[in-house]
Amino acid sequence: MEKKLKRIGVLTSGGDAPGMNAAVRATVRAAINNGIECIGIRRGWSGLINSDFIQMNASSVSHIINKGGTMLYTARSKEFMEPAGRAKALGTCKLLGLDGIVAIGGDGTFRGALALSRQAAEAGQDLQVVGIPATIDNDIGCSHYTIGFDTACNTAIECIDKLRDTMQSHERCSVVEVMGRHAGYLALYVGISVGATAVLIPERAPDFERDIVEKIRHARLSGTTHYMIVVAEGAGSAVDIAARIREEVGLDPRVTVLGHIQRGGAPSARDRETASRMAYEAVMSLIENCGNRVIAAQNGVLVRLDMEEALQMTKAFPMHRYQILEDLSPARGFHT
Ligand code: F6P
Repeated sequence: MEKKLKRIGVLTSGGDAPGMNAAVRATVRAAINNGIECIGIRRGWSGLINSDFIQMNASSVSHIINKGGTMLYTARSKEFMEPAGRAKALGTCKLLGLDGIVAIGGDGTFRGALALSRQAAEAGQDLQVVGIPATIDNDIGCSHYTIGFDTACNTAIECIDKLRDTMQSHERCSVVEVMGRHAGYLALYVGISVGATAVLIPERAPDFERDIVEKIRHARLSGTTHYMIVVAEGAGSAVDIAARIREEVGLDPRVTVLGHIQRGGAPSARDRETASRMAYEAVMSLIENCGNRVIAAQNGVLVRLDMEEALQMTKAFPMHRYQILEDLSPARGFHT
């Protein structure tokens, strides 16, 4: 006979992302409206280790759908990476009578979830975990979309549009660093959206002459007098790139590192809606005794993937969009 789910926990872990609150809200409401109690675990996995939790009710998640950040706080826990830390976490789960956990975060969060559920199984403890992909980097292999990406793109675009005004007035070059330690999704999407002169991403080994000098030269020849260079954090430092532009191209660039601004702010419609649907699906999955899953977006629909398999999946970086960026440049038609 299927085990009846009585109580679940929800947590956010890793770097925060706009839309996490919407996912927490939907988890809590979907659970409560299906007769399941919900506990909010604070500060990610470390909250499970340290028994840092709050009882959630329908109104504890009122008025958060429109808020950036996460009401449950978030953290990256080194202790949880060790079996001893996870044993403590399992103790808390037992104490709280948790049958399942909804873990909202990135790859690291899911790796923690998988390790926890394996350790639980070894100890004969029944604990099902379901992951929801949330990171502004959009770099989770199993899901075409991750919560927070759209809002972060919009924030970066708004900032760069403002920069463009002043760069255009002064006929300057701007080097803007966007987030993305290992992934260029944010840089590329933003670059296309602002009509950047050049974009550097970690997925393509940078060649300064080809990727910057040539681009600026062609833009100059087409009559452009200001240049917008977008650099993903993982592709190099904006400060270093600006210094090279100063030395080798003779421009006097201004550097802007957008940094954590991109992680905050009210979530976009896409992030609120996706987060709500993913969290609803996560709770349904637990109710149907379908644990150790990641709720992933694939070709516009949500799918429940085995967590271990999900963690091994990779997605192809849309390199053809890099070509689109280049082909849309006004300098494209100029050949010297
Ligand atoms: O969440 C992903 C991310 O924003 C990366 O793009 C960035 O490199 C990293 O987190 C920054 O992390 P922290 O908040 O620890 O500075």
